[in-house]
Amino acid sequence: MFKASQKLAIAALALGALVSAPAAWADEEADLIINGEKMDIRVEAPEGHPLDEILSGWIFRTDETQALETDDFDNPSFIFVEQAQEAWSTVEGEAGKSCESCHGDVAESMKGVRAAMPKYNEQAKDLWSLENYINSCRTERMQAKPWKWAKADMDAMVALIGLQSRGMPMSVKVDGPAAEYFKKGEEIYYTRFGQLELSCANCHEDNYGNMIRADHLSQGQINGFPTYRLKNTKLNSIHARFKGCIRDTRAETFSPGSEEFRALELYVAWRGQGLSIETPSVRQ
Ligand code: HEC
Ligand code: HEC
Repeated sequence: MFKASQKLAIAALALGALVSAPAAWADEEADLIINGEKMDIRVEAPEGHPLDEILSGWIFRTDETQALETDDFDNPSFIFVEQAQEAWSTVEGEAGKSCESCHGDVAESMKGVRAAMPKYNEQAKDLWSLENYINSCRTERMQAKPWKWAKADMDAMVALIGLQSRGMPMSVKVDGPAAEYFKKGEEIYYTRFGQLELSCANCHEDNYGNMIRADHLSQGQINGFPTYRLKNTKLNSIHARFKGCIRDTRAETFSPGSEEFRALELYVAWRGQGLSIETPSVRQ
């Protein structure tokens, strides 16, 4: 067995062998303008924030991938957003209601909702992600079946609701009853996982801007989620991305919807406080 200090040295070596300086950046100064509206993709970090500058993941993508997000006609996510728009007004469940029956127009009723997620729910006495709110309406108010986390129906609805906050700054509450979740999320962020013994911070705080294999490392921000990935040609949820990143360190992982991932979501949302919501974004 290795001692802890030796293990750390090995992990550092492993990461050192994986990362390298990028051969070429996409235009570092480029602005993200979606359908003519300018997004805040570079935000000054407040006092006590672990980063100097808060940067959207869009900055780190290739010109081609970046371009797909600048116009909704080119953004492949919108096929799924349209499906969710249909689901929004479709009656389901024993109560004979659709989302629209109670909430009316999605653009009006859901504006700003995503920007504050996840948030503490007083009644449930728990930290809830957007998925929790959607499923509680489905089961309690519609008497319909819950949707599975990180699956197509749910991800599409999260994208439709998220889109209504596009351009608004991420602004989660981390004090009061949310504080204990924030602390737990922070702990997970700095925990080294797997055989590679890498934490989120090792890649997304210490090495953003560098290449890891063929990938240009970003700060791992979640302001664009759910995100359409060219790799799997579908929407990907925040928790599915967390799961994938932990799996890449060859570790066992938490499940989408778990208390751990909701806490981590709150902490990561705070790391991106002030960035414009870009939902639904496009990534490699
Ligand atoms: C029978 C009425 C009813 C139906 C049907 C319903 N909701 Fe709700 N929903 C509510 C009420 C009431 C609340 C809590 C009060 C509020 O925040 O608006 C709520 C809250 C929410 C919230 C949290 C809003 C926030 O600001 O925190 C979301 C998101 C949501 N609903 C989405 C949906 C979706 C998606 C559907 C359809 C799948 C749906 N709801 C169906 C009544 C309903
Ligand atoms: C071994 C390095 C590594 C570790 C450890 C790692 N990630 Fe990642 N992560 C990546 C790579 C590579 C990508 C894809 C390129 C990019 O956006 O940075 C990525 C992407 C992401 C994204 C998507 C960013 C966007 O703009 O779409 C999020 C969010 C994310 N990671 C969060 C996390 C969290 C939270 C952890 C810890 C649980 C973590 N990552 C651990 C390598 C890592």
